[in-house]
Amino acid sequence: MKESLDIRLQAEKLAVSPELLQRYNLPGPRYTSYPTAPEWKESYGPDELSRSLEASNRSDPQRPLSLYMHLPFCERLCLFCGCNVVIRKDHEAAGPYLKDLQWEIDRVAGRLDRSRRVVQFHWGGGTPTYLSPAQMEDLFHFTRDKFDFASDAEIGVEVDPRVTTEEHVRTLQRLGFNRISMGIQDFTPIVQKTVRRIQSYESTRSLFDLCRAGQFESINIDLIYGLPHQTPDSFARSVDLVIDMHPDRVAMFSYAHVPWLKKQQGSFARHIPQGMDKFAIFRAGIERFTRAGYVYIGFDHFALPGDELCRAQKDRTLHRNFQGYTTKAGADLAGFGVSSISGIGNEYAQNYRALEEYSAAVRGRRLPTMRGLSLTDDDVLRREVIGRLLCHCVLHKKEIETEFGLVFDDYFSPEVARLRELENDGLVRLAPDRIVVTSLGRIFLRNIGMVFDVYLRKPKDGPLFSQTL
Ligand SMILES: C[S@@+](CC[C@H](N)C(=O)[O-])C[C@H]1O[C@@H](n2cnc3c(N)ncnc32)[C@H](O)[C@@H]1O
Ligand code: SF4
Repeated sequence: MKESLDIRLQAEKLAVSPELLQRYNLPGPRYTSYPTAPEWKESYGPDELSRSLEASNRSDPQRPLSLYMHLPFCERLCLFCGCNVVIRKDHEAAGPYLKDLQWEIDRVAGRLDRSRRVVQFHWGGGTPTYLSPAQMEDLFHFTRDKFDFASDAEIGVEVDPRVTTEEHVRTLQRLGFNRISMGIQDFTPIVQKTVRRIQSYESTRSLFDLCRAGQFESINIDLIYGLPHQTPDSFARSVDLVIDMHPDRVAMFSYAHVPWLKKQQGSFARHIPQGMDKFAIFRAGIERFTRAGYVYIGFDHFALPGDELCRAQKDRTLHRNFQGYTTKAGADLAGFGVSSISGIGNEYAQNYRALEEYSAAVRGRRLPTMRGLSLTDDDVLRREVIGRLLCHCVLHKKEIETEFGLVFDDYFSPEVARLRELENDGLVRLAPDRIVVTSLGRIFLRNIGMVFDVYLRKPKDGPLFSQTL
């Protein structure tokens, strides 16, 4: 009880002036990796990934695994969508894709020690429940035959309530899925109409109740703030409906407007709330969720106080990967399917983002790796610093000094100078032995990470990232 009260007080202290917002609302990465994906090299390919998988077995044959599978299909495109999707009204492409995916699973599993336990497994998309229950069952059994799952593995899936049937839900539960994440975004009719995603509260609620009755351990709901025609009041009404459902976690994403990548987003550009208007919507959401007892973890995540994300943040074991915040630090992440990303030891690898290229590689019996990176020592150090600040909201300099054999204030002297400016704006507090992110700093976490990102100092050809808020 005390905890939610403290958080509420923090939320009410979020005084942001237009000048402050202008200073910090810049294009910036979400730091699901460091270095970020635009820095990865096409010279990193299947051979490098194979070597990295084998090296990870040698260096730590007990290191757990996290598996991510990208199921990119959706029947219709939501105009705001920034995900890697393949739109197919007819379902004919799914069968051949699943065959390709099985080949990739088989090939990667063959390079990983069977003794390595899968502690986390996730189907993301697109819309995994675009698949029929029988297809989901096949894919799941195929994977379980190739890997050993820990008895308490987190097994999660993203679903679109508009296409998810009772049979889907029952199948997922029978297979052992214990976490489910539902896309809602916003219930306001004009917003839904403008982004071409019509989704009633009633049908969403009945799917939610079905999942609750089925005892998923954790249910997450996705919302987006900053969509066209949203206002603080209209968004607050959607948030209230979500609070009434009582999900365990909420992802309240900042709408990422990237029309240079997703042309369809241009169609409603003039109706998108900007600057202080967008901030007021965010604020309406954060106030309502924290008042209802949710803890703001950072970026877009909220969780109920008993949730393990909150516990992990407090005891400083929280971690960040391509799926956002996670409690599974120390696992190697193997990604499967079009556009998916692997993080093995100190290397990143990404698969082809276009379905045709992915399939062509697999059918040519090659791992479909499109690009990747082997981290330098400096990358590893900065990844650790950024990760700790963004996950734990505190960084103890001594810990970094001991782990990396350096003097923090000497190595990071330009960064510490820059942090003083952020301190003047109330985003961080600097003590001789630590850096602490304030309540205000929690909503500008990307900017705090950016201080330590050396790659942002290089000139860029064009826009790469969405705005930080
Ligand atoms: C793969 S989808 C979730 C499952 C399902 N496809 C659905 O939409 O219900 C992942 C989530 O990404 C978020 N998302 C998609 N495009 C976005 C954008 N441009 N900006 C911010 N969030 C976005 C949405 O909240 C969406 O629920
Ligand atoms: S259903 Fe989800 S993944 Fe598919 S287009 Fe809409 S937001 Fe994107």
